[in-house]
Amino acid sequence: MNTFGRNIKEANLIKKMIKHGQEHVLYFWDELNNSKKNNLINDLFSINFKKTKKYFNDFLKHKSNHHRIIQPTEYLSILDRKKNNDIKSIGEESLKSNKIAFLTVAGGQGSRLGYNKPKGCFPITPVKNNSLFQIFAEKIKFYSHYYKNNFYWYIMTSEFNYSSTIIFFEKNKYFGLNKKNVIFFKQAMLPTLTLDGNLILCKKDKLFLNPDGHGGILKALLKIGLLYEMKNNGIKHLSYFQIDNPLVKIADPYFIGYHIKEKSMVSSKVIPKLYPEEKLGSICKINEVNSVIEYSDLPKEEMYKKNSKGELEYLMGSIAIHIFDIEFLLNFTKKIPIHFAKKTVKGYSISDNKDAILKNIDGLKFETFVFDSIPISTKSIFFETVRDNEFFPLKNKDGADSIATCKKGQSKLFANWLRAAGLWNEEYKDQRVEISPVYAPDKEFFLEKVKKDSDNIIKAIFDKNGKIRNEIYIK
Ligand code: UD1
Repeated sequence: MNTFGRNIKEANLIKKMIKHGQEHVLYFWDELNNSKKNNLINDLFSINFKKTKKYFNDFLKHKSNHHRIIQPTEYLSILDRKKNNDIKSIGEESLKSNKIAFLTVAGGQGSRLGYNKPKGCFPITPVKNNSLFQIFAEKIKFYSHYYKNNFYWYIMTSEFNYSSTIIFFEKNKYFGLNKKNVIFFKQAMLPTLTLDGNLILCKKDKLFLNPDGHGGILKALLKIGLLYEMKNNGIKHLSYFQIDNPLVKIADPYFIGYHIKEKSMVSSKVIPKLYPEEKLGSICKINEVNSVIEYSDLPKEEMYKKNSKGELEYLMGSIAIHIFDIEFLLNFTKKIPIHFAKKTVKGYSISDNKDAILKNIDGLKFETFVFDSIPISTKSIFFETVRDNEFFPLKNKDGADSIATCKKGQSKLFANWLRAAGLWNEEYKDQRVEISPVYAPDKEFFLEKVKKDSDNIIKAIFDKNGKIRNEIYIK
């Protein structure tokens, strides 16, 4: 008897693949043992074929069908922030009353960094080489102590790095956080297709699947029931940040306060781009609604366009730091658009005439972006911040946004805090400086602490001969 006919499940699977024109994924079926067959069955049954077809058709249409009117939009500038002198206390009040939880997207594969563990495990602080996860955990530890709260921290991973992320936290004893307050969840996966719309086998028993983009949190939080849990715990706003930027002020009372004061549903921090092509999403209005348009989607003529003052028309870039309203996320029923990226993937090229071989194939990856929730919200605001204080991301091994620039950016920031405290001399400029988030997670707390603790800080800066240390670590 033919292997395919062995049981109903197999027969159904074959019928299903034929119906969707994807029978090539069963090319190796006869070679697979039962456990491998199960692997492939699980992958195939995880796919929504109707949706996948729609995504592919959207991709085909997308090429010719693009009617958007892009215009500049407003944001709260740093200068105008001063006119809102009540926002700090509004933000602090919500932090004190346990209405905030933290949300990190850490599902990306970090391939640009050439690192095969979760990016959050990457050692990145300038002196101690602490990991990104440790930095954020210690910030949360500080705030939990300061605001006398046990803040919840929700971390989204993908299928690929879920268990390795948890193992890292376990091994490091959750960096002193209460384990119950750190909640990991997985985003969904989507199939990568060939440019003809076919599924790809990356192994004989495995489909090529990719995480569904950070926009996957919108669905995952709702589906797993985490939003209801948050609501029941009295949480009203989520402070969202990416795993790649150690400088994020995760509990910024000014930002949170402005979000609340403006009754915003999604708020986003922005900075002026350094140059038109900088890889930041640009804020704008699309068809009259606030939006973020990804750098790769911003038409060239808009990218370089200047306004009457001679500045870039689309100067402000999103640094992917947001506040989300829980009620907005709970009622999120609209679909966000799907984005496409062509990328080379290693998979089996299967054709009728030749043997199937593993080789590089042009693939089509589908993903969703969390900032596409902005135009769907009834109210959104953009809030300017200072690059040197809040944005030195780790994206690449070398060049822009690299390991070196990220470490340097942190050192520069901490040196600035020392300068503001009157403890810095320009001659020290080459010294590496690190201030533990447990000591002070931002400048205001640091300056407050220095007043009571200057002896300890001076010891950390100078050795007993009064010479500046090469590495300054304040804890
Ligand atoms: C991102 C933003 C860009 C913003 C810039 C700021 C996108 C598409 N663009 O660019 O607008 O100006 O950051 O630094 O996001 N992630 C997941 N699951 C996924 C994919 C990504 O959790 O499926 C997470 C990553 O772990 C990372 C974050 O999302 O924390 C950003 O992903 P990445 O693809 O690196 O975005 P960028 O292109 O750097």
